[in-house]
Amino acid sequence: MIGPLGHLAPLGGRRYRRIANVVLLGEVPSTNEVARALAERMLAEDSDLDVTAVVARRQTAGKGRTGRSWSSFGERGLALSLVLPWPEGPERVRVPIVSGIRVARALSAGFSLPVRLKWPNDLLVGGRKLGGILTEGCTGSEEAGYAVVGIGLNGAIPRAELDAAGLQGATSLLAELGPRADLEPEPLLHTVLELLDGALGDEVDDIPAAFAEVAAHGPGDPLEVHDGDRVVSGSYAGVTDDGFLVLKRPDGEVTVLSGDVHPG
Ligand code: BTN
Repeated sequence: MIGPLGHLAPLGGRRYRRIANVVLLGEVPSTNEVARALAERMLAEDSDLDVTAVVARRQTAGKGRTGRSWSSFGERGLALSLVLPWPEGPERVRVPIVSGIRVARALSAGFSLPVRLKWPNDLLVGGRKLGGILTEGCTGSEEAGYAVVGIGLNGAIPRAELDAAGLQGATSLLAELGPRADLEPEPLLHTVLELLDGALGDEVDDIPAAFAEVAAHGPGDPLEVHDGDRVVSGSYAGVTDDGFLVLKRPDGEVTVLSGDVHPG
């Protein structure tokens, strides 16, 4: 079904099963900002929007989690945001972790790479960051809302360029797979949209079990979670049914709702 934006027919008119609209833009500061504005307009007009992907060829002020910035390296990094109807009730809080699990599974299968999820949703290969996900909620006056799931992926970026940018902990599809025609911007976008379209139908019922399958952490790993000035340390003990991090400490288990994970 095509949403109120109409069929914009970019990407050679390709159609997807679940992604109804693809908005392909040239250069924008942040696809999440464009996607949010779109979602807010839909809510203000009380219109419905089917699943929409907002893609930019170049993103100049990409946003990362916890107020960080995200470098997209021009067209060689993929920047896109999915606008999804936000489920009501307990499902709502699970959207970030479910999105992370789906994307990690889809990229692993699609590129034959062991993509792991560092809690909550950093996409790692071999301990280095291949991409990240920033999920933001957008609600109207009623319960209705949209989730904006922004995905940044390092595509055909040579490792030397990541290093030169001070991103020694990062990797890219090029660094992991070697030069391939399908890592060029256009084919990469098609592949990733196909993978995400499939991933949107991927059921994630048991979040603790699904996260364990893709987790970059193993039981007992010493971790530190930094959230502003607050640091919580403990050993990794999985995630809750809603995807919150559980750390084991000498005085019992703690559940961590947000923050950045570092080795302890
Ligand atoms: C992180 O690892 O901190 C999350 C990075 C998310 C980056 C993506 S790129 C597409 C979308 N638009 C943004 O401004 N941010 C997300």
